[in-house]
Amino acid sequence: MSRIAIVTGADRGMGKETALALAKNHYTVIMACIDIQNADLTRDEIKSISGNKNIFVKKIDLSSVLSIKQFVQSFLQDFNRVNILINNAGITSMKYEITEDGFEKTMAVNAIGPYLLTKLLIPHFPPGEDNRIINLSSWFYKYGRFSIDKINKYHYVKAYAVSKYAQLLVALELADELKEKGITINAVDPGTVRTGIMVTNIWWRDFIINILLAPVYIDPKEGAATCIYLATSDEVKNETGNFYRKSGPIVLSGKYNNKAARTELLQYYEKISTLHL
Ligand SMILES: NC(=O)c1ccc[n+]([C@@H]2O[C@H](COP(=O)([O-])OP(=O)(O)OC[C@H]3O[C@@H](n4cnc5c(N)ncnc54)[C@H](OP(=O)(O)O)[C@@H]3O)[C@@H](O)[C@H]2O)c1
Repeated sequence: MSRIAIVTGADRGMGKETALALAKNHYTVIMACIDIQNADLTRDEIKSISGNKNIFVKKIDLSSVLSIKQFVQSFLQDFNRVNILINNAGITSMKYEITEDGFEKTMAVNAIGPYLLTKLLIPHFPPGEDNRIINLSSWFYKYGRFSIDKINKYHYVKAYAVSKYAQLLVALELADELKEKGITINAVDPGTVRTGIMVTNIWWRDFIINILLAPVYIDPKEGAATCIYLATSDEVKNETGNFYRKSGPIVLSGKYNNKAARTELLQYYEKISTLHL
């Protein structure tokens, strides 16, 4: 039986490259996407390149708890288990926006939504199989230190940094609990990648950022390589609670691998889960 992978934001950028690599590795791939029209086109392209027919699109809007619940419900109607979850989708919301559930939008899409999705899917990873969760974080985590009472008050670049730091902390914090359930969880820094999230060119400052970053940009395939390695390589089958860059774990300094922040974040997420799930 083919192994089952869910990739959020799989219709473009690194998510698309990751979904394609998993398809080539004979996974059944569920592309969890917000833009269904584009996702359908990408699915057809992935099917044609990989020769794998088991590629499916399902709608998810990670900024909406209702949509996350509907995605899981629809997924479980068609599949009875999941082996790989790649929490890849992400945004940098230009303006300060509060979602229908009361969260700052970047935080909701990049961190809170993925946590709720992960929580709902955990019971469906089959015990005794090779089960892995990967969170897309960023080198930007260094700018993401937060105060928990302000977690939905940050905006633009700071909100993005907080969300990426949260994705890293949650991977570290959940590792022990998930190990008992036979699931590994790791976070990834893909580098500085030429994708839609970076190359928006909406504001004059985006033009400047892109000119400055041009020498360090890598393409989405190269950016996705570490995530694909973590999802598919036997070498890291049992690795958990690590932060990876270029196929190797990074040792975080105590300033960032902060137990108090990890605990506070998980307590906050648990409160949200109780209220919303
Ligand atoms: N690019 C970089 O340099 C870089 C560096 C470090 C980390 N990362 C992380 O890598 C991940 C992938 O980003 P990327 O660079 O490949 O960017 P991308 O090409 O812009 O892809 C982002 C994906 O997220 C989806 N998405 C946006 N809002 C969503 C929502 N509300 N619900 C569900 N999906 C949503 C997008 O869908 P639509 O476009 O169809 O709306 C798209 O498929 C992100 O988590 C990002 O933070 C990127």
